[in-house]
This record gives sequence, structure tokens and C-alpha cells, in this order.
Amino acid sequence: MAPSLPSMMRAVVQTAPGTASVESVPIPKVEYGSALVKLEASLVHSNLSPIFKADLDYFKLPYPAVPGSFGIGRVAAVGPDATALREGDFVIVSAFIHSRDDPSVNIIRGVLAGPTPASQHLYKTFARNGFFAEYVTAPLETIFRLDEARLFGSPEAGGLGYIPGELVVFPANVICYAAMRGISLQPGERVVITPATGHYSAAAVDVAAALGARVIAASRNAAGLAKLKETYPGVVDTVQLTGDVKTDGAALSAFGPVDAVVDVSPPAATGAPNFAAALSSLRDGGRVTLVGGRGDETLPIPYLKAMMSSLTIKGSYMYAREDVEACIRLAEAGLLKFGKRAGHVVHAVYTLDDFQEAMDRAVETAGPGSIIYIKP
Ligand SMILES: NC(=O)c1ccc[n+]([C@@H]2O[C@H](COP(=O)([O-])OP(=O)(O)OC[C@H]3O[C@@H](n4cnc5c(N)ncnc54)[C@H](OP(=O)(O)O)[C@@H]3O)[C@@H](O)[C@H]2O)c1
Repeated sequence: MAPSLPSMMRAVVQTAPGTASVESVPIPKVEYGSALVKLEASLVHSNLSPIFKADLDYFKLPYPAVPGSFGIGRVAAVGPDATALREGDFVIVSAFIHSRDDPSVNIIRGVLAGPTPASQHLYKTFARNGFFAEYVTAPLETIFRLDEARLFGSPEAGGLGYIPGELVVFPANVICYAAMRGISLQPGERVVITPATGHYSAAAVDVAAALGARVIAASRNAAGLAKLKETYPGVVDTVQLTGDVKTDGAALSAFGPVDAVVDVSPPAATGAPNFAAALSSLRDGGRVTLVGGRGDETLPIPYLKAMMSSLTIKGSYMYAREDVEACIRLAEAGLLKFGKRAGHVVHAVYTLDDFQEAMDRAVETAGPGSIIYIKP
């Protein structure tokens, strides 16, 4: 560890469902295969509150644990085997981790310990070391260097003028990018994104626009749709869904042949007609990616339609390292937009001491492009 580093740091330590306090804990050791990052911004997603209270069975986490699921900061120390990362690099730290000796085992830090003894074991090795802290350690392969001058520099100096906290929505972009790469979405293709006004679905619109696709945002929320159209004039068309599959399918088809559908429906939309309407609009040879969290037991699609139209239907879970790298390139090129350029709003920035209020506020303000983060 670099000699200038302190030995202790402040972190939110959770000991039971809904119970945590800010404590002084040892700074995690930097070992082979890892690096230590001093955090500038830690995402406070609206799903953290129910996870913190252990309200959701599937997302129960072991204790003690430091919450948080994504962070941006500066490398403070690297393990002896690091070959690319250097102290001082500005980086994002992904929460999605694969076991090194069995890559089929994976976890999401601060979110998902997974259902198997192997994933639970992997999770426990990271649990005490999360993103609601001054420092976090992470496997080298989950840390990605950013072009600091380009992303955060002033426009006069050729920068995009973002602040680090505006990039905390990055994981949603990467998840949606991976889904679109999975169905080979091409520039100029027409893609229906449904819904389009959630945290992830609005990110899907940002990504599809960055990829040069022609987007049809299909959702019920008129105000949310209007905002998307305003953010991406000439790129995003909108259809306010009525709930009638035939009417909505016809409205989606009216723009011309639909090449692809990206479904990002949440569990609350289980059984909802938006997905069937989107599917009905697909051209022959169309592709579908399922990236949401619906609980449907079967897909609402006629077997013969899928067969006769040679449709491809693909599920997409999380992302690969190359997806993160590709999204960083899109962001640095200025194609994938953040902050005001993407219509995002930073509602509030909190300190570690206000972690509870931060999580509550994230629930209150949840919505497309809504940002709450902790600056430890
Ligand atoms: N594949 C992966 O790796 C991955 C990773 C992370 C998250 N996810 C999943 O992504 C999903 C979407 O997340 P999110 O944060 O964007 O969800 P969200 O913000 O809770 O909801 C998104 C939108 O769903 C629509 N909706 C809600 N209830 C509905 C209903 N009953 N019928 C029709 N539409 C309804 C609403 O849009 P309108 O009111 O405008 O219609 C809402 O804005 C989650 O379920 C999550 O599990 C997947």
C-alpha cells in the first residue's frame, strides 16, 4: 500500500436488515489481482432501499456488509501484478464480479449474492468492502480507466464538462448496451424500446441513440415520452401506449419496418400488454432482447409468428468487460450522453453520514435520468 495512505477509513457498516452506522474501519488491503480506489461518487439507486431493508427475498445479502453497488473515483494503490492501471487513474468500478476459478459463478456487489453456495461464498469475500465508503478494493478486471480530461475537462479545453457524479448511471447504460450488442443492433435500424421511462429503459434510449439507431420509445407516461423526444430530436419517436395490443402494435408499425425490440419491463409490468404490442410490430427477421425483470411464465407471442417471421428472441443478463469498454468509448466520443446533455437531473448529493436519507430520496425521486449519489 502507498505509504501516504491512511490505515483507517469511514464506511457505512450494515449489521442487520435496515440497521447500519458509519464506522471507522481498516482500509482494505491491496493484494495480487486488485486495486484500491478512493471514491468520488457512489451510486444510490432506488433499489438499494428495499435491498437494505432485506424486503426482497431474491436480493438478501450476508452481514456485516458495506452497501452500495457502483462507484467512480481515483486509483489510490494497485496490486503488484497490475500492468495497465496506475495510481492516480480516474476509474469506474463495476460491481459485477465473476469467480476467477469458475466464471459461471457471479455476483453483483451490494445487490445480489446469488442462489448457490459458491456465489454466496464469493459474495462474502467482498461484503465488508462496498461502495458506501471512502475507499473500495476491487478485482483489477472490474476497474476501468476513464479519459479524465475528455469527460470532465471544460468544453473550452476539448472536454465534455461532466462532473463525476453524473456518470453514476453508467451501469444501466452498459447493461442495455450489452443487450443491444447481443442482437447486433446496427446504426440506422429502427428499434422499439419498451417501456422507456424507467431507470434502465431510459438508459436504453440513451444507448440506442448513441449507436445511431432510430428509436421508438413505447411507454404509457406521456410526460416521460415528451422529455425523451425533446432530448433526442429527430432520433426518438414516441408512442404512448393505450394497453390495447392491436392499437399499440399498429402505432408502432406506422413509422416503418421495426428491426428490433428491447424489452426492459420491470416486475410490475408482468403480464402487461406493452411487450406483445412491441413484438407484433417486428418485421420478418426481427430481433428481440429481453433485459427487464418481468415475471411472466411464458412469452406472449404466437408460435407461428415467431417461426414464419424467423424472429430471434434473446435474453441478456448484465454485461461483459468489452461492453463496459465500448460504452466508455461511446461516452468519450460524446455519442453516449450524460448529465444535462441526456436530460438527467442530479437531485441531491449526500455524505456518508446521510446514507439513510440518500436511499429514501432515491426512492422518492426514482425515474428516468434521476440521479442521487454519495460523495464519501
Ligand atoms: N438484464 C439485466 O442484466 C438487468 C440488470 C438490471 C436491471 N434489470 C431489470 O430491468 C428492469 C427495469 O428496471 P427499471 O429500473 O427501468 O424499472 P422501473 O423504473 O421500475 O420501471 C420502468 C417502467 O416500467 C413501466 N411500468 C411500470 N409498471 C408497469 C405496468 N404495470 N405495465 C406497463 N408498464 C409498467 C413504467 O413506464 P410507463 O409508465 O411509461 O409505461 C416505468 O417507468 C428491472 O425489472 C430490472 O430487474 C435487468
